[in-house]
Amino acid sequence: MKFPYSQKVLEHFKNPHNVGKMENPDGKGLEGSPACGDMVAVYIKVNPDTKVIDDIKFESYGCASNIATASIITDLARGKTLDEAKKITWKQAAEELGGLPPVKAHCSVLAVEGLRAAIKDYEEKHGLITEKESTTEEVVKKRLKHVMNPLTGLDVIRTNLILKISVEDGAVRVVVDLPANHQFAPAIKEDIVEKLGSLWDVEKVDVVFTA
Ligand code: FES
Repeated sequence: MKFPYSQKVLEHFKNPHNVGKMENPDGKGLEGSPACGDMVAVYIKVNPDTKVIDDIKFESYGCASNIATASIITDLARGKTLDEAKKITWKQAAEELGGLPPVKAHCSVLAVEGLRAAIKDYEEKHGLITEKESTTEEVVKKRLKHVMNPLTGLDVIRTNLILKISVEDGAVRVVVDLPANHQFAPAIKEDIVEKLGSLWDVEKVDVVFTA
């Protein structure tokens, strides 16, 4: 049987580097892929003076390509400054891996987004982001692409589960096309509140169900 993967992908998949959870990370990114519903978490430890990534780990709930890419990019990011690590692209990771099948591009994108989210988390916590984006409906929509619809395994935006979004004076209201007593309603609500509540200018998140 011929695998569609390069030898290097298989090596990193079988023996991934930097796998595991990190206790008390300085930055943490959790990203879900809108394409397949898989998730990746990236943890970083950063030297506060030099802003160099001293340690990095990841956990993947994704496929072989995702695990292999996360393994490669965490290797590449270790020892780099945050600004250097931000420039690592999924194309670069895919090249390092000797290529990936085109249908698997989103898996590398997911790993890179996880790394960028961990860097952003660090920067937000340490006041390094000077230009803050105001929360708009578009920003909310983008965040909600990381909330999964457990009924389908895809995100709530792509599956049209969100009927309406409104943003006003730090209050966000999201209308979900599910009855409040649906078995998944509490989990979806919790996930939405968590994703939107961390936006810097959001004070209140209201999740409303249709019945
Ligand atoms: Fe989901 Fe690859 S198919 S991460």
